[in-house]
Amino acid sequence: MLLEATNLTKDYGEGAVLKNFSFTIDQGEIVVLAGKSGTGKTTLMRIINNLERADQGTVAIAGIYLCQESPNGAEYVSRKERRLYQNQIGMVFQDYSLFPNLTVLENLLEAPLAQKLSSRQDLTKKAEELLNEMDILEQKDRMPSTLSGGQKQRVAIARSMMLNPKVLCFDEPTSALDRESSDSIGRLIQGIAERGTGILIVTHDLEFGEKYGTRILSSTTFI
Ligand SMILES: Nc1ncnc2c1ncn2[C@@H]1O[C@H](COP(=O)(O)OP(=O)(O)OP(=O)(O)O)[C@@H](O)[C@H]1O
Ligand SMILES: [Mg+2]
Repeated sequence: MLLEATNLTKDYGEGAVLKNFSFTIDQGEIVVLAGKSGTGKTTLMRIINNLERADQGTVAIAGIYLCQESPNGAEYVSRKERRLYQNQIGMVFQDYSLFPNLTVLENLLEAPLAQKLSSRQDLTKKAEELLNEMDILEQKDRMPSTLSGGQKQRVAIARSMMLNPKVLCFDEPTSALDRESSDSIGRLIQGIAERGTGILIVTHDLEFGEKYGTRILSSTTFI
């Protein structure tokens, strides 16, 4: 088992958004979370990416813990251990969240350079390989604002893969794309999964979810 989330509970103060929700993602699985607006899908994704705190529950990837259930609520690991956890998981945001003042290539290099993971030369080589795989290498020196939605999405995916995450999350990956671009993103995601990455996709697009998901979870089961 790659990601294991158990008894996740979250209340922003207006009633439970998640209540004792448990799920897993295995190696190579594409888990699709479908469900109506406001049912906690983004909240769940933000919790497992450590962008939001769970009130209660356990989250771990390959035995590396983010938090653990306890009588006093979710007990989070130390800041240093959280960093270790966060390197196991990546997220592609709905608005892509590219750095607008950096070129495509620099967008990929920013985080791994800041973490001093490797030399600029080695990281550039890796970034160019990923951009090539995403079919966007020709645009490496362009600014994000000059790219189409589908191209931005590919840059965001390449950027999230720079840290070799074991789990990769996508929030509404197709909401801004036509059917053809959605299909090419779907095939890219399948390719990433085939190499063993666990994928979580949140989507309203059931056609996409059924076509590319290997397992569908309904967010009506959250509460
Ligand atoms: N930071 C926050 N503070 C307070 N309430 C929040 C916050 N984030 C989300 N909520 C509430 O939690 C509930 C779930 O929101 P969430 O964004 O997780 O839903 P969603 O399933 O992703 O919806 P959508 O399909 O529209 O993206 C909503 O009622 C929302 O108003
Ligand atoms: Mg959402």
